[in-house]
Amino acid sequence: MNEQKVLVVGGYGTVGSLVSELLATDEYIELVVAGRNESKARKLAQTLQCEWRTIDISNAPSISSALQDIDVIINCFSGPFTHAPLLLPELAAQAGIHYLDVAGSYEYAERFLKLNPLAAKNKVTLITALGASPGIPGIALMSAKDDFEVFESANVMFVLGAKIDGISASSLKELKYMFAVKPLVWRDDQWMPPKDSDRKEYLGKPFEKGIYLGISLTRDLLIIPELIQINELSFWSGSQSTSQGIAMLLGLKLGLTKSDRGAQFLLNVLKRMGQAKWATSDALIKLELMGTNRGIGQKRTIKIYCEENYMTALAPVIICQQLIEEKIVKHGAFVPPEVIPAGDFMDRLGNFPIRYSVKTEDI
Ligand SMILES: NC(=O)c1ccc[n+]([C@@H]2O[C@H](COP(=O)([O-])OP(=O)(O)OC[C@H]3O[C@@H](n4cnc5c(N)ncnc54)[C@H](OP(=O)(O)O)[C@@H]3O)[C@@H](O)[C@H]2O)c1
Repeated sequence: MNEQKVLVVGGYGTVGSLVSELLATDEYIELVVAGRNESKARKLAQTLQCEWRTIDISNAPSISSALQDIDVIINCFSGPFTHAPLLLPELAAQAGIHYLDVAGSYEYAERFLKLNPLAAKNKVTLITALGASPGIPGIALMSAKDDFEVFESANVMFVLGAKIDGISASSLKELKYMFAVKPLVWRDDQWMPPKDSDRKEYLGKPFEKGIYLGISLTRDLLIIPELIQINELSFWSGSQSTSQGIAMLLGLKLGLTKSDRGAQFLLNVLKRMGQAKWATSDALIKLELMGTNRGIGQKRTIKIYCEENYMTALAPVIICQQLIEEKIVKHGAFVPPEVIPAGDFMDRLGNFPIRYSVKTEDI
């Protein structure tokens, strides 16, 4: 296998620095960290003993010079990706460079998928929506597809720990757009608004109390019924602390993230609310899957607990390795469930220091 040059945009940011650290030890990867700030890029590059470059993803000449001799781009720029220019994936496709990003944005994914003909023509793979959510839940769901003859239902849950020390103001800004997406559930062969959208769930350790969850939707999950025959699919999200979750919703609805100052103020309030002893910085992904295997009804529960930013970083890191190993060979612009070898992804995820369990019961 040849060594590949991987450019991490936002490579010294919260998520990007984790991606960079994880890739720095990969013998098949020649790492390049980048962002707009020369001294921050240089400082991290010195620590990780890698190359650095400057790049501004809204400036075409800056992108073109940063892309010289790059094989794969991982974009961890501070969002919101919503309404952000598509310049970087577009120029990557034109230059024949594979591209991955951690965008949570529904709107961005819709525009991004239109790059499919260009990417296919230039024989590159572009994948958006990689991270803790969206990202891993859809891949985990796809990993179970071959184990059920009839896939009855999937409840996908994502819970953010209340200790949100690692959450950046840019992540909070993107959340505003994610909350604005109309919630939908898949039932009777169509997407429809949910009848009741509150659910109290006991999620187990480290979430020791009943958590209130609400129906939500991410763009990657919208594609699942096209890929697998499934009767019911719903996606729930919530916060470990109900009061913090409500404060977050209110703050976002009141438009506090419109300015940097407002976003920072809201973040500080939420951080103070997440100081309780029981609060964790872990996020939880839980999937409850029902189906039939060899004529027997089965329930499968998949749980992944991990610090949220580390979980987010793992998705592009693993997928970058799959790309380099040519485990992903489809060309075009995709959301993860369409193109990621899901079983292989979940096996690799289990090799990292996270809490990951799969329990299957006959019912
Ligand atoms: N899918 C998921 O589950 C998930 C979870 C968490 C976060 N995220 C997303 O991950 C992204 C990054 O979050 P974060 O917490 O790591 O943000 P962050 O700590 O603010 O870091 C962002 C990085 O992007 C760089 N950057 C900003 N504007 C840029 C530009 N125009 N061109 C090039 N680089 C630029 C910043 O450096 P300079 O400002 O110096 O350029 C910084 O290095 C956010 O969009 C967030 O929504 C996704």
